Amino acid sequence: MAKIGIFYGSSTGNTELIAEKIKALFGNDADTCNIDAASIEDIEKYEFLIFGTSSWGIGDTQDDWDDFMDILSGMTFNKKKLALFGLGDQINYPDSFADGIGIIYDAIYDRVDVVGAWPLDGYTFNESAAVKNGMFVGLAIDKENQPHLTDSRLEKWVNILKKEMIS
Ligand SMILES: Cc1cc2nc3c(=O)[nH]c(=O)nc-3n(C[C@H](O)[C@H](O)[C@H](O)COP(=O)(O)O)c2cc1C
Repeated sequence: MAKIGIFYGSSTGNTELIAEKIKALFGNDADTCNIDAASIEDIEKYEFLIFGTSSWGIGDTQDDWDDFMDILSGMTFNKKKLALFGLGDQINYPDSFADGIGIIYDAIYDRVDVVGAWPLDGYTFNESAAVKNGMFVGLAIDKENQPHLTDSRLEKWVNILKKEMIS
């Protein structure tokens, strides 16, 4: 079984596509699973976790993560290493850019070891619940406005995770 479980919620397929790209960068080390079909046992069996969500409703997680939030708050995680990524649109939602990442972080940060913080350079927005101590708590991807940056951001981020998560 792969060591890393990538769990994602995606309404129009953007986050799913990014989850698959992340999996490809990890090769045989990672599996992907849509959170709408996941159980606690599915999540707990992995040594390392990556959670991905888009942002909707002006400052919400993707709907399937909303439905999963009660289950998440009951999970122990035992300080397992976990990384977060999220899709958002900084031009149309500059006051809630990639908030979904921050909402999941807030729900679990005290029980996991969050790795993969990402700098704010190259983004333009006013507010984001995903920013803590001057960094995103995970990777923010803006497919609508910065598609040309997606692949290089993913490669750099996965290289960081390979060091911070696995080694
Ligand atoms: C109605 C609506 C609300 C949205 N709200 C936000 C938001 O609050 N913050 C943000 O960064 N992006 C927001 N977005 C942009 C989506 O997160 C973005 O399109 C994302 O790529 C969708 O990914 P998915 O297909 O995986 O769900 C919104 C988009 C729509 C259509």
